[in-house]
Amino acid sequence: MLRTIRLFSLFLALLVGGVWAYAWVTRAPGEGLAEAFAGRLGMLFGGQQAPIPSAGGIQLPQGTSLGGPFSLTDQTGRAVTERDFAGGWMLIYFGYTYCPDVCPTELGTMAAAVDALGPAGEAVVPVFISVDPGRDTPAHLADYVSRFHPRMQALTGTPEQVADVARRYRVYYAKVQRPEMTDYLMDHTSFIYLVGPDSKVRTLFRPDMTPEAIAAAVAAQIGARTARPGSAG
Ligand code: NI
Repeated sequence: MLRTIRLFSLFLALLVGGVWAYAWVTRAPGEGLAEAFAGRLGMLFGGQQAPIPSAGGIQLPQGTSLGGPFSLTDQTGRAVTERDFAGGWMLIYFGYTYCPDVCPTELGTMAAAVDALGPAGEAVVPVFISVDPGRDTPAHLADYVSRFHPRMQALTGTPEQVADVARRYRVYYAKVQRPEMTDYLMDHTSFIYLVGPDSKVRTLFRPDMTPEAIAAAVAAQIGARTARPGSAG
């Protein structure tokens, strides 16, 4: 009897620990650990429908919808909306061209992830959205993104248009003026978003993920196989 109780306690501890770890790994940005834990526990016991697997990215909490409509200007000066990209896949990064370090690194990662997808990567458009429309003109953006990927699109807009798309993607950004610097910096969140053919965010990737890991997750989402060196075709 004692042995049964011990085994049951062990089982319970492992179960709670497992759910806790799962909540830790899958919680969304801004979601508290306790909140995430309660949500995952509810999924386990409450019979809630599990969200779509994130396939390696960050799981969006159930009922969360990111992305959707936007109205911006591309690097050629053309007005574009989400409908111009609908039906295909996008990897989106929000940042600004004057960013000294994080943005160039992330855009390099995003471009490398698209290339790591091989032929399947042709279905994915890498997109850079500026959170600094005051300095990031279309001409300036055209020059900037061409250094990262030949198919990379760069979008900017009026301050209101940028604020609107940032709100839909829950991107935080703010101007930072340091007394010792003549130019301002932009403080901003740093995630790579995978957006599906319906213009909605499927999953997002943390900045420390490798291009290969992102490519594998994207491939799983679009149902394509990642091209491996040496494989036929
Ligand atoms: Ni940056």
